[in-house]
Amino acid sequence: MWQYFMPTKVLFSQKVVEQSKELLRTFGKNALIVTGKTSSRLNGSLNDVENALNSIDIEYHTYDKIEENPTFEQIRTAVGECKDQSFDFVIGVGGGSPLDSAKAIAVLLKNPSLGVEDLYDASKYNSSLPIIAVPTTSGTGSEVTQYSVLTDDMGFKRGFSHEKIFPALALIDPTYTLSMGTSLTRSTGLDALCHAVEGFLSKRATLISDLYAIEAMRLIRDNLPVVLKEPDNYKAREAMAYASSLAGMVISQTSTTLAHVLGYPLSTFKGIRHGDATAAFLGAIVSGAQSEVPEKVDLVRKIFGKIDEFIASAGLSIKVQITDDELERWIKRAISANHMRWTRGKFTEDLIRELYEGVRAN
Ligand SMILES: [Fe+2]
Repeated sequence: MWQYFMPTKVLFSQKVVEQSKELLRTFGKNALIVTGKTSSRLNGSLNDVENALNSIDIEYHTYDKIEENPTFEQIRTAVGECKDQSFDFVIGVGGGSPLDSAKAIAVLLKNPSLGVEDLYDASKYNSSLPIIAVPTTSGTGSEVTQYSVLTDDMGFKRGFSHEKIFPALALIDPTYTLSMGTSLTRSTGLDALCHAVEGFLSKRATLISDLYAIEAMRLIRDNLPVVLKEPDNYKAREAMAYASSLAGMVISQTSTTLAHVLGYPLSTFKGIRHGDATAAFLGAIVSGAQSEVPEKVDLVRKIFGKIDEFIASAGLSIKVQITDDELERWIKRAISANHMRWTRGKFTEDLIRELYEGVRAN
């Protein structure tokens, strides 16, 4: 048996926000916009959303305090500030952090008796305010997934998953990604790459997710080097936006695997961007799958050659100071993570230690 469920309506075009005004009207009269402080203003996305809402007389409040790697505390603050305003729907504008935050906030506004920790127990809720996602990077795929990743009070990244947090609507305009600088372009592009490859090699891969993953891998191989060299190349930016959403649809079926888990502490404790941190471990995921799905690994190698060389050619090189204590804590968390169940290959504590040693500077 296989199944496919991804209920988000996806509209993809230049000027898509402006073109979707009538659709926005169907979500209600009062919108909460969730975004970060600066980038959504610089790339024009926030302006487009606010203009669209103004032109159809929808009231809105713009909450713009979301930072990279959003914490439980930031979500509590946002919900505290917004809970008395009876919003009908939530619009997340930005990269993965605002989109994931919008999902958490939408559930908590709809279910005011819940705290942030309750988001991780799917049995405690079955509803959310409708979520509209306007992505401005090409990588997280959050606009088409049922996942949200937040940083808990201990400083660890933890994802929650619920069918009700699939955005109702994703409005994808690749124009917004034109203003990303090199390091964000690389990191988000590598995140999409990890989603496609991890999903393709996941034990949860399906016929349809494989179809999307193969197309996403090819598009990323052909276009990531181009957007890194020619940031103004619209066609390549458009292809990366498409690939990123395809890769998001892949992980909506397969979830991510061990590369994501290994990368999380590098982001929260060492400030390495999510896609960079994850890609540092992608080669191990490919090698690990060799004994179980050799034909799939062959296909990945046919597309990219050596995946580590493709990633290095994008300019990725990570070396960070890691204490012995941190190392042991991270290994324990990785071994006990749910993602291990979907990861092919044998990842022992010793192998994980070796992988962390590979990014260790001391
Ligand atoms: Fe990711």
